[in-house]
Amino acid sequence: MHVAWTVKYKPRSLAEIVGNQEAIKTLERWLKSWEDGIPQQRAAFLHGPAGVGKTLTIEALVNDLGMELVEKNASDYRTEEKIQRFAGSASQYSGFFGRRRVILLDEMDGVHGTADRGAIPTITRIVKDSRCPIVLIANDFWNKKFVSFRDKKKYLIIEFKKPRTSELLSHLRRIVAREGIVADEEALKFIATRNQGDVRSAVNDLQALAQGKMKLTYDDVSWLAYRDRKDVIFTVLRQVLYGKTCNAAKQAVNMADVDLDMLFEWVYENTPYHFNVPGELADAMEALAKADLYRGRIRRTRNWKLMRYMIDFMTAGVAMARDKSKPSGWIPFRFPQKIRSLSASRAERAKKKGIGQKIKRRMHISVVTAQNDVLPYVRIIFESSPQMAAGLTKWFRFSEEEVDYIAGGKRRAKAILKLSN
Ligand SMILES: Nc1ncnc2c1ncn2[C@@H]1O[C@H](COP(=O)(O)OP(=O)(O)OP(=O)(O)O)[C@@H](O)[C@H]1O
Ligand SMILES: [Mg+2]
Repeated sequence: MHVAWTVKYKPRSLAEIVGNQEAIKTLERWLKSWEDGIPQQRAAFLHGPAGVGKTLTIEALVNDLGMELVEKNASDYRTEEKIQRFAGSASQYSGFFGRRRVILLDEMDGVHGTADRGAIPTITRIVKDSRCPIVLIANDFWNKKFVSFRDKKKYLIIEFKKPRTSELLSHLRRIVAREGIVADEEALKFIATRNQGDVRSAVNDLQALAQGKMKLTYDDVSWLAYRDRKDVIFTVLRQVLYGKTCNAAKQAVNMADVDLDMLFEWVYENTPYHFNVPGELADAMEALAKADLYRGRIRRTRNWKLMRYMIDFMTAGVAMARDKSKPSGWIPFRFPQKIRSLSASRAERAKKKGIGQKIKRRMHISVVTAQNDVLPYVRIIFESSPQMAAGLTKWFRFSEEEVDYIAGGKRRAKAILKLSN
């Protein structure tokens, strides 16, 4: 059911291949020339970056010309013995029933370069008196081990380049059309540009982002820019907190490959700062509470099927809570408290405990409750209202250092201390 689009939309004939038209023509001319007898160059060497259509081109050509392709896995011709067995005899006959055969040695990069293995000398020997065309393919033609193939009299050397963005775009356009997806030109352009001529990976990106959709918008794809970067979590967070559609919010998780427990902590930590309509914040927190319920159940029962619900609530649930909430200005994302306290130094833990003891004395609760249930609120107050913070500082008798720690910033702490004197 889930076929890779690189397979589903793999060009079967030359006309569908984008880019490298010159190279393809050259190769076609050479293959056809065999009809008039064995040419000087008995082998062609195709080389170029990954995913640009090297393998595909030879397959499509052989198909279009009604020839027969003799092909083996790269591992089958790593050594002299194997290569002799496969290509040696095949190259002596031109094919059954008059169908001309083409021998393909693909992915030559994997062939051993060391002389004692002898794979490459064997290939050159076979090429010398082959009675049918041999096609060699590698990414890195300039590798030392291929020097013996640089003889232009004996080898037709053809470089494949990355297709231009416009060419890649036309391939992507064809795919979405056949999938019945309406795609923004901007979205496709983004995918094409990002993949810099690697058709295979562009098609993979397109499938991941667009499969099953009716529409593909720029918003659906733009966040992809961050996929490979360290701050991937911020991008996912942004999608979860500000995603315009359920799908955009959910998709962020699927694509980003982040740890879900970790992501939950991030969403939980940051949600309060990114909603400023209380009812909407309540809805978002409610969604997170539900996600947390599933999280607990998954942990207890190991029923991974429930993961879907946890993800839905913690992403789409939060994103959909937003209606009018629009926090003003830029709000930095905050590192989850829970992770912060796990990585806190001993000195920091001691400071926190000291604060807990002061809260305990005033509120007649345990130190643990003070640290876990009261301190977070104190912290929010310290961050949002210097006046109230100053009052609390006096009441709890927090030291300067403690105010620093709770306020989480020297400037804010200074303002609070000034008011409390
Ligand atoms: N020029 C192209 N036009 C259309 N589709 C392409 C093109 N190049 C690659 N593709 C798509 O990418 C897939 C991989 O292409 P192919 O195997 O030909 O790449 P390659 O150049 O041989 O890469 P590698 O060096 O990794 O072997 C194809 O099945 C096809 O779906
Ligand atoms: Mg290939």
